[in-house]
Amino acid sequence: MQKAGFNIVRMAEFAWVNMEPEEGRYEFGWLDEIIEILGKRGIKTILGTPTAALPPWTLRKYPEIMVQTPTGQRLTWGMRKHNCFTSGVFRLLSERITRAMAQHYKDNPNVIGWQTDNEIGGHPMCYCHSCRANFQDWLKNKYKTLAELNRAWGTHFWSQGFGDWSEIVPPDKFDEHNPHTCLDWKRFFSWLNVRFQKEQIDILRALCPNQFVTHNFMGLFSEINYYDLAEDLDFVSWDNYPVSGKPDMTNNYNAAMAADVMRGLKRRNFWIMEQTSGSHGWGTLSRNPRPGEIRKIALQQFAHGAEAQVWFPWRACTVGREQYWHGILGHDGKPGRRYQEAAQTARDLHTLDEHLKGTTVRADVAIIYDYESVWALSFQPAYDENKYHQVIGRYYQALRRAGINVDMVRPGQDLAGYKLVLAPDLYIVRDSLASQIDAYIRNGGVFLADGRFAVKDETGLCHVRTLPGLLAEALGIEIEEYEALRGGIEYQIEEHLHRAPVTRTAIHYADWIKPTTALVLAGYTDWHMQPYAALTRNQCGKGAGYYLGTIVKEPAFYDALIRELLESAKITAEITAPEGVEVSTREGAGKKVLFLVNHTEQCQTVNVPAGKCEVLRNKTTGSAIELAAYDVAVIRL
Ligand code: GAL
Repeated sequence: MQKAGFNIVRMAEFAWVNMEPEEGRYEFGWLDEIIEILGKRGIKTILGTPTAALPPWTLRKYPEIMVQTPTGQRLTWGMRKHNCFTSGVFRLLSERITRAMAQHYKDNPNVIGWQTDNEIGGHPMCYCHSCRANFQDWLKNKYKTLAELNRAWGTHFWSQGFGDWSEIVPPDKFDEHNPHTCLDWKRFFSWLNVRFQKEQIDILRALCPNQFVTHNFMGLFSEINYYDLAEDLDFVSWDNYPVSGKPDMTNNYNAAMAADVMRGLKRRNFWIMEQTSGSHGWGTLSRNPRPGEIRKIALQQFAHGAEAQVWFPWRACTVGREQYWHGILGHDGKPGRRYQEAAQTARDLHTLDEHLKGTTVRADVAIIYDYESVWALSFQPAYDENKYHQVIGRYYQALRRAGINVDMVRPGQDLAGYKLVLAPDLYIVRDSLASQIDAYIRNGGVFLADGRFAVKDETGLCHVRTLPGLLAEALGIEIEEYEALRGGIEYQIEEHLHRAPVTRTAIHYADWIKPTTALVLAGYTDWHMQPYAALTRNQCGKGAGYYLGTIVKEPAFYDALIRELLESAKITAEITAPEGVEVSTREGAGKKVLFLVNHTEQCQTVNVPAGKCEVLRNKTTGSAIELAAYDVAVIRL
C-alpha cells in the first residue's frame, strides 16, 4: 500500500464480533496493532461503526432485534442489515459499541475519521409490534388529530376511516395499499434510519471532536431520503460500482449522475469510500475492469467533485460471502495489473491535489431531484416504463453529451443561481414549490417540466386543478387528458427544433396538451392527436417555461431539446468533444480545471485551448489532445 502511494484505509465496518466478542467485553488490541502498523507507513485510518452485521450473541440474547416480516416471521440470522430500528435493545447495543470505539480511538492520531454503519438503507422493512406502534406515534406527531390524518389519507375510500390510532397498520403491498399510507410509511422508515445514524453521530461528535464523520452512500439508491441522511454528517462519501454488463455510456453517465446527486446532498464535494477495483459479485462475477478502466472510473469522480477515494477491497477475501468481490489484489495477494493501475491513479491524485484544492463543480443547470416523487411513483408509476433515473437520464445524458455541468438539487432549494432548471418526473409538488418555480420563470429562468409533473400534493392527494396546476399560466398550457401508451402504441410527432421539421416517435405516455399561450415546438400527427402538442415553449415574464408531455424514442431528440434549452438560457459549453469523451470543469480559489474523460476503447482527438498546462502529462497543450482508450486529461484553464 505504501509503495502504491496510498495514505488512507477504512476498516472495521463489519467487525462487531471481533471488537465485542461478548456483550460489554471489548477487544481492540488486534485493531490497534493494524492501525499502528499502517500509521508507521503514513497511512491513516477511517473506522466504521460495525452495526450493519449482528454478532451471534445479540441474537441469542435478544431475538427481538431481528426484522419481522409482514406475516410475523423473524428473519434468519446470518446476513447483514437485518435489525429492527425501533428495537430499544438494538439502539442501545449500537450506542454502546459506538461509544466504546469512540472512547478508545478518540485520541489516536492515526484515526482521522468515522464512517457510520455501512450503506444505510439496504434493510428489509420491519413489521413488528414495536415498529407498528412507533409508526402510529410518528403519525400522531405529524397529524395531531385523527381527523386530519383521515383527510390527508383520503380514508373515506375503501372504508378506511380510522376511529383510533391503534387501528393503523403499516402497508406492505405498495402497489395495492393506500398510496398515502405507503408514502408516510416510506417517510417513517427513512426517518428511523436517519435517527439511528444520528444516535451514533451524537456520540462521535461528543467524544471525537477532531475526527470527521461521514457515511458511505449508494449513489442512485433511493429508499432513504438521502438529503436527510446527509444532514448530520461532515461530508458525504459513496460507493461506486459502475462495472456491470457491456461497457456502455448509460453506465458511465449513471456514475456521473450519482456523483452529482452525492455532491448535491450537502452542496459540497464528496469522497468515494468504495471504488471499483476488480470483478465483483456475491455468487457470480461482473466483468473485469479493462486496462485503464479503474483509473478512468476513479478520475471521473474527481471531475464531478470527489476529494478523496478509497478502493474496495484491498485484497479479495479468501473467506465468507464476499470471496468473489475482487480488489486491488486477488486471493493470492500478488501485486499485478490492477495494483499497477491503482498506483498510477494514486500518483495522478497526488499530482492533481494542488490543482483541485479549493475547487468544486459550478453549474448553470440544475435538475430537481426528489426522493418523495421516486417513492410515490414507485406505487403508481402511471406507465410501466416510468423509472425515475431513466426519465432523468434522458435529459442528463444529453446535457453531459453537450459538455454541460449539472447540479442535482433538493426541491425547495433556492434556484436563483441557475439559468436553466429541469424537473423531470417531479410528481409531488407542494403549492409552495409551484409558486417558487413560477417566480423563477417570471424572473428570467428557463424551466422544463414533463409528464406526471405536479400531479400530487405532499400527502399524495391529486391536486384538483387542471394540470399543470399552479404552473398553467407560466407554462401556457392545459392538460385535461393523458394516457399510457401500452402494448407498443406509438404516435408520430413532428418536431420543429431544427430548421426543417423532423419526424419522431412518442412512446410510453402522452399528455394531451392544449396550448393556451405556449408555442408548439412539437405536435402529434395521428388523426385524433392533431389538436395536441407534445412539446411547448411559453414566454412568461423574463423567462420561459417548456413542457414535454411524452417520451421520445430517439435520443437525438433530447440532444436537440437540450440545445434549444441551452440557447434559450444562454449557456455555452467550455469545449465540444467527440461522443464518448466526457467534459467537466471544476473551479474555485482562482483556478479552473477541465477534465476530459475518454469512456471509449478507441483513441480520441479532442480540440482544446492551446498553451495550457495538461497536468497529468505535465505538458503544454497544442490545439488538440490525443486520449488513448480510457485515458483522462486534466487541463488547467
Ligand atoms: C458494499 C459494502 C462493502 C462490500 C461490498 C461488496 O455494499 O459496503 O462492504 O460488502 O458491498 O459486497
